[in-house]
Amino acid sequence: MEEINKVGVLTSGGDAPGMNAAIRAVVRAGIHYGFQVFGIRRGYQGMIEGDIIPMTSQSVSGIIHNGGTILQTARCKEFMTYEGRRKANDNLVANGINAVIVIGGDGTFTGACIMSKEFDIPFIGIPGTIDNDLFGTDYTIGYDTAVNTVVDAVDKIRDTASSHGRIFFVEVMGKEAGFVALLSGVACGAEGILVPERQGQLEKLKEYIAVRGRMHKSSIIMVAEGDEDGGAIAIAKKFREEFPEFDIRTTILGHIQRGGSPSAFDRVTASRMGVAAIEALIDDQKSIMIGIVNDEIVNVPLSKTIKLHKDVNSKLLELTEILI
Ligand code: F6P
Repeated sequence: MEEINKVGVLTSGGDAPGMNAAIRAVVRAGIHYGFQVFGIRRGYQGMIEGDIIPMTSQSVSGIIHNGGTILQTARCKEFMTYEGRRKANDNLVANGINAVIVIGGDGTFTGACIMSKEFDIPFIGIPGTIDNDLFGTDYTIGYDTAVNTVVDAVDKIRDTASSHGRIFFVEVMGKEAGFVALLSGVACGAEGILVPERQGQLEKLKEYIAVRGRMHKSSIIMVAEGDEDGGAIAIAKKFREEFPEFDIRTTILGHIQRGGSPSAFDRVTASRMGVAAIEALIDDQKSIMIGIVNDEIVNVPLSKTIKLHKDVNSKLLELTEILI
């Protein structure tokens, strides 16, 4: 295999707080170990368009506390085609880049896996998504911050909900998974948590909410966007039809969950993963994701991460049966 001396780094898919800390760690660890590091802007789109810039230790200074990503990001359709990936490879070759570190979620890793095989170039993945839905890692960068953002918002909603004795359905992100809804729901003391991983909750919830409603007590129902019963609006509609006497409101927290300064946990996780990604390249690894399991760094084949499903913590689900 050609000796690696020039490493590209990009962020792709939905941004997540802590991505900047990961970029910083990749750049500084890369330089520390003697690589030249290049930033590829706007994810795979920038790779296809040759939007590639040299990175220095100074260029990642003062970013560890900022949300978003200084390299910007994109969801790139063209990269799903062979022609798109060929153009991307031409640009890597033109810049002499012979390894790439990608920070993103499952879509990002799928692209990395395919291109790595087609053009024999090592790709290392760093899990960056608020959804925490990647197999092989306990945490993805951005999840902790997003959960704290949700908790902060729902605490505020609780103040007004309890003043009016209202029922609030709060919809949170997470794609097809309920990680954000479950953890933030437990942390907020929500009266109901609707996640795709647990089915058939609606009837039981209706009984519970009816009792509280009659007592003029507030209820917060956390709804994962991927829940089987639909989003917060659809579920609130069903409740209104059944309980026209109750005051029911919905809040969709939306992209506020992706913004903000990363938590200390996300900054440290991102820093550890960024350094580990460079060290994985030194160890001749390719097509792996850096994960954290039981507080230890692990290397997981990208193919496994993409294929296998990560479950929410079943113990936490059981806990809600006791606490709610
Ligand atoms: O994967 C991160 C995420 O925020 C999901 O939770 C959500 O479903 C999706 O991205 C939203 O994507 P977009 O910002 O492209 O609308």
